[in-house]
Amino acid sequence: MTNSKCVIVLGSSGFIGSHLVSWLRSYGYYVVGIDMVDRVDSTIILIKPDIFYQLVLPDQHFEDILKEIKPDVVINASGPASVANSLLDPTADFTGSVNLCFFVLEALRKILPECRFLLLSSAAVYGNPSYLPVEETASSNPISPYGYHKMMCEILVREYFNIYGIRTSTVRIFSAYGPGLRKQILWDIYLKVIKNKQVELFGTGKETRDFIFVQDVAYAIQLILEQGAFDAEIYNVANGCEVSIEELGRLFLSSLKVGNWKLAFSSVTKPGDPKRWCADIGKIKSLGYSPQVGLENGILQYVKWAQALKESK
Ligand SMILES: NC(=O)c1ccc[n+]([C@@H]2O[C@H](COP(=O)([O-])OP(=O)(O)OC[C@H]3O[C@@H](n4cnc5c(N)ncnc54)[C@H](O)[C@@H]3O)[C@@H](O)[C@H]2O)c1
Repeated sequence: MTNSKCVIVLGSSGFIGSHLVSWLRSYGYYVVGIDMVDRVDSTIILIKPDIFYQLVLPDQHFEDILKEIKPDVVINASGPASVANSLLDPTADFTGSVNLCFFVLEALRKILPECRFLLLSSAAVYGNPSYLPVEETASSNPISPYGYHKMMCEILVREYFNIYGIRTSTVRIFSAYGPGLRKQILWDIYLKVIKNKQVELFGTGKETRDFIFVQDVAYAIQLILEQGAFDAEIYNVANGCEVSIEELGRLFLSSLKVGNWKLAFSSVTKPGDPKRWCADIGKIKSLGYSPQVGLENGILQYVKWAQALKESK
């Protein structure tokens, strides 16, 4: 028997993992965190896991934890999360992504087959979709090692459901942002602004993304935990809004009160970066999801967090 509402979050010290732990705990879940680093981001008010294990997965101790805790669900929010790094070091990306996922699924098959598994995958599996908004049924055509490895994890998750009956689910997260995120475009612009440098970004500014506030990611995952079929289904997790990088940059600069700053673009496309993304979120909406934090509000929350960092120095 597994303990209902008992969840193990792998990658619990990470950006999404730490927000997810906090969100689930605030909704009465008993949350066990596992991460290779024991790091608490003191700049955000988050609830810590009930128990934390510091492990570099794969580690056989994970099997003992499964035996002892008997969770209802294991959520994999761990692993590498950078397209650029995956191009530089595909071995590290493959190991951290595919090997780790396989290890966890194997442990579940051997130790606790009734436990459910939820994979944090990425919109990177779509590459450049041939139509927008992209639905979960669209073909996977990744354009980076990161995207290919996420696709391989998705195949493993389907394999373990189809062959071994492990109940699995996958979320394809689009561009998640929020307090605590010290990487990607908003952080990049912020650093340039505080160093008083010109804000020059890659690309043309016409590229688009579908931004989702990190707490909305946690909310969508909670809905899946409570209502999802766990029959290897896949959900897009996004806001369902296509926003150009130029528009995002403008909004962010004006929230930072430097709306008069020039935003420049190098016209250089970074390898592995898609041109346009916008998700069809009809499937996750059918579980009751609707985005709670719009882009303007989310950016204000990010700016508030970033400016408090500066003041605390
Ligand atoms: N941030 C996004 O916009 C986004 C979008 C789509 C998908 N994702 C996926 O969501 C997951 C979490 O992303 P994030 O942005 O929070 O990344 P993150 O780097 O902030 O967090 C990942 C965490 O996993 C831990 N970890 C990595 N390898 C580990 C290992 N071998 N053993 C134990 N712990 C390990 C790290 O220490 C880190 O705390 C990743 O799989 C990423 O690919 C993120």
